[in-house]
Amino acid sequence: MGKAKKKKGSKKSFLANRKSWFDKETIDNPVKKGVVNAQLEIPAEIARPDYAEDSIPKQVCLKDTVMNAEQLERMESSCKLARHILDETAKHAVEGVTTDELDKIAHKLCIEAGAYPAPYNYHGFPKSICTSVNEVICHGIPDSRPLLDGDSVNIDVTVYYNGMFGDCSTTVLIGNVSEENKKLIDVTEEALMKGISVVKPGAKVSDIGKAIEKIIDEHGYSIVTTYGGHGIGEVFHTKLHVPHYFEPGPSTIMKPGMTFTIEPMINAGKPKHKLWKDNWTAATIDSKRSAQFEHTVLVTEKGVKILTLSEGEPQPFEY
Ligand code: MF3
Ligand code: CO
Ligand code: CO
Repeated sequence: MGKAKKKKGSKKSFLANRKSWFDKETIDNPVKKGVVNAQLEIPAEIARPDYAEDSIPKQVCLKDTVMNAEQLERMESSCKLARHILDETAKHAVEGVTTDELDKIAHKLCIEAGAYPAPYNYHGFPKSICTSVNEVICHGIPDSRPLLDGDSVNIDVTVYYNGMFGDCSTTVLIGNVSEENKKLIDVTEEALMKGISVVKPGAKVSDIGKAIEKIIDEHGYSIVTTYGGHGIGEVFHTKLHVPHYFEPGPSTIMKPGMTFTIEPMINAGKPKHKLWKDNWTAATIDSKRSAQFEHTVLVTEKGVKILTLSEGEPQPFEY
């Protein structure tokens, strides 16, 4: 008797095909890099940031850059678009879908909206979004690896739109994620909100890390120190660095009109990372899981406005 033929196009065979490649990868085994496809096209009519051609950003913005009303309007539109594309892309993050397919979806949405996908060529990054699976902390390059039951994937979308960068990310659960891993993800999101809650004029940027550290210590997780949040606006990363742990010493004082990201990367194990051979992907040194959430925020007269909330989501703090 011959082998039973699988029905072509059924969900089962689709998943089986994609899973075979990953057979030896288990929770105890590190994520394997897939194939990175050729770069997608960006039509000539899309306004490009200054690094688009040679990959080197030229414009510099200082630590204490503040925006006027006209700039803020453009900034808000960029952040709103980034969140919209993130939410739409996240809907497609399910078992069997590759991170490359997520990149294609986000790329298309970006182009259709008339925006430039900011990671594309930024210091040579080859794709339009970052996708960081399981123990990958950040800067994962979308590739042919299919998402698997029990995975978690951080999707990080930044757009360049109306001359402004808007940046946000979320961690999506794929199928049945263990309670242990779910908790890490929940606490990471809570830590982001705790960090945002202290933002107001007169506060120090170091207060953010202090607030995040408190909740993370309570849970016994660790905070990634190598990467942090950043000032953002007319440039992707300004001179302002936002540590997610308490960094004593002189710290920038928040002023109304300042915009920056908060994007804690929280590890179940050690805080250290190793870089993959692709020179981008940062994974935990012990292969234990990592989670991340990111918002772009604005310091207002009264407090803080989150610029990258989903449509219809109310502002959680006074602004
Ligand atoms: N979006 C990331 C951040 O939050 C930056 C990605 S840079 C890239 O800062 F080059 F990796 F895309
Ligand atoms: Co980001
Ligand atoms: Co960012």
